Formats: sequence, structure tokens, C-alpha cells
Amino acid sequence: MTKRAIAGFAALILSTGLVFAHTGATGIVKERMEHMSAVGEATKNIVQTARGRVERDDAALRAAAEAIRFHMQHAMMKFPEGSDGGVSEAAPAIWADPVAFQAEGDALIGLATEFVQTLDAGGDPMALVPQIGRSCQTCHERFRLSKD
Ligand code: HEC
Repeated sequence: MTKRAIAGFAALILSTGLVFAHTGATGIVKERMEHMSAVGEATKNIVQTARGRVERDDAALRAAAEAIRFHMQHAMMKFPEGSDGGVSEAAPAIWADPVAFQAEGDALIGLATEFVQTLDAGGDPMALVPQIGRSCQTCHERFRLSKD
């Protein structure tokens, strides 16, 4: 990933992290937003390292990737039919094409798992950062309504 692409991706992460759409949300919608916010926070840590903003700390990177995996798994369990609308940014496409939605979630969970495995094997997990960024963007483009 070029420096410029990383910067663009980081801007996306930093801006999404600042949008507290879950204000006023309740129940399962609030829960999935909190899980998704945690995914955002963990991703921010990895992106800051990729940009050289923070010194690389493998234990912190590992924890961040584990957090992405954990919170993404939990978020994916919290999209019951009919839970869109209101403050939620969940797009109707989630229920129109649940198989594709699940596949996007599984792709990110798989990348987070690969990140940890690569780290443990002494490889370069930062090479996966562009793919992780694309995974967020691909799913959001189709399955998240932008309220901006
Ligand atoms: C499987 C699809 C999918 C993937 C992959 C995904 N997201 Fe999301 N994300 C969503 C949906 C859907 C919402 C809106 C949930 C709602 O408002 O009910 C959302 C909301 C968010 C929010 C706003 C949470 C809030 O407080 O409202 C953030 C931040 C976020 N995602 C970050 C990320 C990051 C960072 C990644 C990649 C590491 C990512 N997401 C990957 C589907 C996904």
C-alpha cells in the first residue's frame, strides 16, 4: 500500500471512529454498534503502526487483531431481521443478501486470524493492512448506510 493509500484509509478509520452513531441506540443495535466501534478502535491501532505514528509493538498488534476477530464475530451475531431503521446504519441489503453479508464478515475474521498467525510465525503482518482496509470499505459500501 502506498503512503497515500494508507493515509486515505487512516482518515476513513479516524473519521468513522469519531462518529458516535450509537447515541440513542438500544438493545441489540447498541450492542452491535459497540462491537463495531471496538473493531474500529483496534483497527486504528494497527493503522497507526502501519503509518509509523506509533512504534511497532507486537503484543499490542496481536491484541488488536484478536480484538478485531472477537468483536467482528460478535457483531455478526447481532443482525436479526427487522433491526434496521432508526439510528442504525444497517442497510436493507444485509437481509436481502445475508450470505454475502456473512461472507464479508468471515473475510475480515479470516484476515485477523491470518494477521495473528503471520505475527506468530515471524512474518510481516503489516502486509495484510491494505486487505483489512479494503474489507471494511467493501462491506460498508454495500451494507452500511452512510448518514454523512
Ligand atoms: C460484514 C460487514 C462489515 C465489515 C467487514 C466491517 N463493518 Fe463496520 N459496520 C458494518 C455495519 C452493517 C455497520 C452499521 C451497524 C449499525 O448501525 O447498525 C458498521 C458500523 C461501523 C462503525 C460505526 C459503529 C457505531 O458506533 O455506529 C465503525 C466505526 C465500523 N463499522 C468500523 C469498521 C472497521 C474499522 C472495519 C474493518 C476493520 C469494519 N467496520 C468492517 C458492517 C461491517
